[in-house]
Amino acid sequence: MRATVDRAGLDSESRTPHIKIRRVRKGDLSKVRDVIEQSFGDYFERQLGTRPRQVFGGAQYVHHRWLMEPWGCFVAEDNDGKILGAAIAVIWGTVGLVGPLAVLTNYQNQDVAKQLLRATQEFFDENKVSLSGVVTYATSPKHLALYHKFGYKPKGLVAIMSRILDRSPATPLPPRSTKPGLAVRRFSTLEESKKKAMMLKFRKITNAIYRGLDVAKEIEIVDGLALGDTLLLENGRDLVGFAVYHTPGVSEAPTGALYVKYLAIGRAHRKPEYPDHFLRALEQIGKEGGLLRIMVPVYCGYFAAYHALIERGYKVDFTMLRMKRGKQEDYENPADFVLDDWR
Ligand SMILES: CC(C)(COP(=O)(O)OP(=O)(O)OC[C@H]1O[C@@H](n2cnc3c(N)ncnc32)[C@H](O)[C@@H]1OP(=O)(O)O)[C@@H](O)C(=O)NCCC(=O)NCCS
Repeated sequence: MRATVDRAGLDSESRTPHIKIRRVRKGDLSKVRDVIEQSFGDYFERQLGTRPRQVFGGAQYVHHRWLMEPWGCFVAEDNDGKILGAAIAVIWGTVGLVGPLAVLTNYQNQDVAKQLLRATQEFFDENKVSLSGVVTYATSPKHLALYHKFGYKPKGLVAIMSRILDRSPATPLPPRSTKPGLAVRRFSTLEESKKKAMMLKFRKITNAIYRGLDVAKEIEIVDGLALGDTLLLENGRDLVGFAVYHTPGVSEAPTGALYVKYLAIGRAHRKPEYPDHFLRALEQIGKEGGLLRIMVPVYCGYFAAYHALIERGYKVDFTMLRMKRGKQEDYENPADFVLDDWR
């Protein structure tokens, strides 16, 4: 059965208005945010029976994403230039990610999302993406069907997890020294000339996870707009891993939470104590910033990461479904410690 929606979007002769898909311009940004928040707000209200006061708990997805990947951001507009829907996509090297995607409730089930998805797919094809992905609602037949039409296959669960930060003073990890021993540093504290070399080390870690995977854009936008920072975990001169995190404001972090967007520990550094050190350091940053909780997404295909989070007292707030299309769809190694949010 098709989802029933109000069809106020149809014109007086019950025709779907002519839709144009175009790239987002600077002047559209606030409208795009409204369209996304309204559409998701309506969806949550239908699912939960109440409308959340803040649709994404205070997290924002539009302005910095557009600055980061302007060619990946699309709107659907009608003849009068009214924005009816939007799709935001980003390319992490060889991996293309779609989301958020939204269409105003009154214009749903009239092919708008399919046209937006087609535009994201063309964008991925032009950029020779080998794998594309989306995170969606596993319980919605419509969402599964929509992405399936574009070749996305339902894969595993993504658990959005969090932990309350206790107020007791914690022992911070020691600052970096050249002697062996774990230490953390923030990317923002590196001299500009050192940042480039560090980016190569990040790429080495991500390339081993999936060929060509590169999250440099996420690191650069967080650094450039001070949305948070990237934490380096080092053992002497070796980079063990890195974590891109956002803090609340105009970022993807919900109010009161430190949010980990991407974290990876290098294959060569698979020691059971490393994830714990890393999480402890991130929790400490959250506490120092006066935040109440830390929020991390984990794909359950990275079972070691999921297990480590449970062991450390993280709780699952909600789950979503990862869907993928392309080469090596099941590339995730359960032993890798990776936290990657595709939303
Ligand atoms: C999800 C969303 C973007 C879809 O937008 P839309 O414009 O209604 O989608 P379209 O009309 O282009 O395509 C929907 C397709 O799903 C199909 N569909 C709808 N309900 C279905 C159901 N219950 N079972 C199977 N297929 C279904 C439609 O038939 C249509 O395909 P078809 O035209 O080839 O038959 C929109 O509902 C939305 O904004 N929801 C709120 C925000 C959201 O959930 N975003 C996505 C998060 S991953």
